[in-house]
Amino acid sequence: MIRKCLFPAAGYGTRFLPATKAMPKEMLPIVNKPLIQYAVEEARDAGLQNMAIVTGRGKRALEDHFDISYELEHQIRGTEKEKFLASTRELIETCTFAYTRQVEMKGLGHAILSGRPLIGDEPFAVVLADDLCLNLHGDGVLAQMIKLYKKFRCSIVAIQEVPRDQTHKYGVIAGDLISEGIYRVNTMVEKPAPEDAPSNMAIIGRYILTPDIFDLIADTQPGKGGEIQITDALMKQAKNGCVLAYKFDGLRFDCGSAEGYIDATNFCYEQLYLKGL
Ligand code: G1P
Repeated sequence: MIRKCLFPAAGYGTRFLPATKAMPKEMLPIVNKPLIQYAVEEARDAGLQNMAIVTGRGKRALEDHFDISYELEHQIRGTEKEKFLASTRELIETCTFAYTRQVEMKGLGHAILSGRPLIGDEPFAVVLADDLCLNLHGDGVLAQMIKLYKKFRCSIVAIQEVPRDQTHKYGVIAGDLISEGIYRVNTMVEKPAPEDAPSNMAIIGRYILTPDIFDLIADTQPGKGGEIQITDALMKQAKNGCVLAYKFDGLRFDCGSAEGYIDATNFCYEQLYLKGL
């Protein structure tokens, strides 16, 4: 079964400079909780307990976040502020956290391959923390994908329809509809121009990957932007066997853009924070 979740978190976050100059972009808060914590909570809620985080230089705050801060906790013990640390505490107590560094920035495929020593030879999930996915009315996106994995036992990517003029920001798939919201992928292109896009179904930052993906990535040449793309490795997997694309239930905010970040903040403030969730 799937136990581990990989979080590629080595990127520089240049779109959010200067905020991300000395702080990891994954630590940007949506109201009072950092993006990485939303991501870890989604994985935990899907039943995954082993968190594997691919970091880089300047990312120490991620490790400190999922650790005990003795001074701080001593200071607020017995006060009503203690409750603000409860959610982080719970994660520390119920999950394990392992880290490795991506030494050179060579793309998402390369980041996932850097996580191989933490994953080993078993299927795993991947969450990109700057795609914040929320489903207030049922299972989170990763939990939905894990259910699907139990049935099909192959790699799965989450997808969402985007306006045609946005395809250049995403991996884009095309495939055969096998049941409602589920496609068997036969084409996959990284960041195509609208006229080259095989559809308007974009890959969102949630993946379930079978471990044969590692050898496929290791064999993948740099693609779009000179980077080693997970999309290209998945395309090989789709040709050899099967990759599914799943139109998930829920909302997705692109927190790598200012607009998505503000939308996420407003939504979480109104729907979660004000309601004490
Ligand atoms: C990555 C992937 C892309 C995917 C996107 C989802 O791109 O390469 O296929 O659609 O994540 O957020 P990035 O946004 O890291 O450039």
